[in-house]
Order: sequence, then structure tokens, then C-alpha cells
Amino acid sequence: MNKNSLLKICDLTSEEIFHILEDAAAFSSSQSDWQFPRKTLVANLFFEPSTRTHFSFASAEHQLGACVENFTAQGSSVEKGESLYDTVKTFESIGYDAVVIRHSQDEYFKELEDIRIPILNAGDGCGNHPTQCLLDLLTIYQEFQTFQGIKVAVIGDITHSRVANSIKEALGMLGGEVAFSGPDEWVAKDAYYKRVDEAVQWADAVMMLRIQHERHKETMAMSRAEYLERYGLTKQRAAMMQPHAIIMHPAPVNRGVEIDSDLVEAENSRIFKQMSNGVLVRKAVIKRALGYEFE
Ligand code: CP
Repeated sequence: MNKNSLLKICDLTSEEIFHILEDAAAFSSSQSDWQFPRKTLVANLFFEPSTRTHFSFASAEHQLGACVENFTAQGSSVEKGESLYDTVKTFESIGYDAVVIRHSQDEYFKELEDIRIPILNAGDGCGNHPTQCLLDLLTIYQEFQTFQGIKVAVIGDITHSRVANSIKEALGMLGGEVAFSGPDEWVAKDAYYKRVDEAVQWADAVMMLRIQHERHKETMAMSRAEYLERYGLTKQRAAMMQPHAIIMHPAPVNRGVEIDSDLVEAENSRIFKQMSNGVLVRKAVIKRALGYEFE
């Protein structure tokens, strides 16, 4: 495996996380025009649906002057039975300098130990989503200028969420705290658990999660309206948030299910800011992966 790959947030030290966030922030100011000094080819391999991650990686790569190819399994030789390893090895063999991969299999990258070009994990099953975590961290840091003592309540389908795992690991490293809340079947009642109302009042950032229907074996018994009332961020619950607290969501958002539609673009919502930060973070991560020093 290439040492510049980014597979899990916990593969980074807190110092490396801060370097990436600083470099990402610099892309919005001092190094906004930075581009690769030589021809660089990047392939985005998406085996699972994505809008934000796929196209913010593509946007970041284009802005850095890379040649970008977007691969989806449909219409490729995956349909003829080609393995993940052989697909990635093909991109390496035909001259790509790095690959971005999203796949439904937890820790798919364990099959890719022998790949020599950097791999950037754009989400593996219910496991990890390191660049989502970095953009969440950048958004939190912009707001509070620290992670020390910052409390993030993650509410919803925790069991099937790679976002929840990643932010828990990162904030644990950086001095913040995470609480989880949601329906009993999707949240462990461990030391991290809080009831929804309690979590909303406790947090500096309330991060709502979509119900990951695609990873469920059974159809949810509750109606959308019932879910919103019992576990979602309603206007009534949002009014319980601390005055300085912000609303976050990795998106895609199911408006009217985990969050009242009017709150998505409320004054204290940072949901679309998270998406803009995704491009900055991915520029920093691609630059790092290809061996360019932080500015
Ligand atoms: N947040 C996120 O990963 O969104 P996409 O599935 O659209 O990439």
C-alpha cells in the first residue's frame, strides 16, 4: 500500500489532521491557485452511489489541474466479473497517479495491499469516510476555533453510518466529545448514548444522519412523520439547542424525515458549508497523496 493513501481517519495523527485542515483552509485564500507542477491523472472509482463525495473530489482534482476520469461499475468490465483488485491494478497499469474509491464492502482496501499508487477512501460500507470526517472537522474548527471540549451529538442511524465512526475516532483524538442518539435498534446504549432531547441540548454541534435504508435487512416500521417526531430535528427540538450551536448533516438529506425541511438552510445550519469545505479538504488530501509538501 502506498504510504500516502488515506483509508481511515485513525491512520492520521492529530498533527497530520491539523496540517490537512490548515492546507485546506489555505486553498480558500493564500494557495487558491495552486496546481500540480506536472501532468497528473486521477481516477474516481465509484462502486456505490454518491453526489457530494464523487463530484467534490472531481471538482478538487480539476481545480488542481489534474486529468480526471470518473468510473462507475455499471458499463465497466466489473459487469463481466472483474475483481476490485484487477480493476484498480488496471488503473495503476495504464498510467493513473492516484485513485479515489467508494465501495459498499467494509474495508475493501484490505484487498488492495499490493497496489502502489495512493488510494483515497471515499467511503467503505459501514466502516470509514475519512474525507467526510475532515470536512466535518474543518466546519467545526471554523466555528469554534478549537476541538478541545467541543461536544458533537450524532443522531440517527448510527449502526450503519461510516460518518459516525469516523467523527467519534477523530474527536476522541482531538479532545472533543461525541454522543450518539437515535432508535434503540440503531444505537448502542453504551457510555456514548443520550436521549434525543438531552443530546440536542448538550451539543455544540448537532449532526443529523440519514436512515441508511440501503444497508437495512428489514423495512423500517415507522412512518416518515413518526420518525421525525420521535428522533428527528424538529423546529421544537432545534429551539432547545444552545444559542451558539450549529446544525450539521453529511447529506444527502431526506427533508422531513431526520430533519424538518426548513432547518436545512436555517441560519445556524452549516450543511451546505460542509459541502463547500469538502472541496477544500479534498484538494489538500489529493495534494498530500501525490507527495506535495504542505505550504
Ligand atoms: N456525504 C456523502 O458522502 O454524500 P454522497 O453519498 O452524496 O457522496
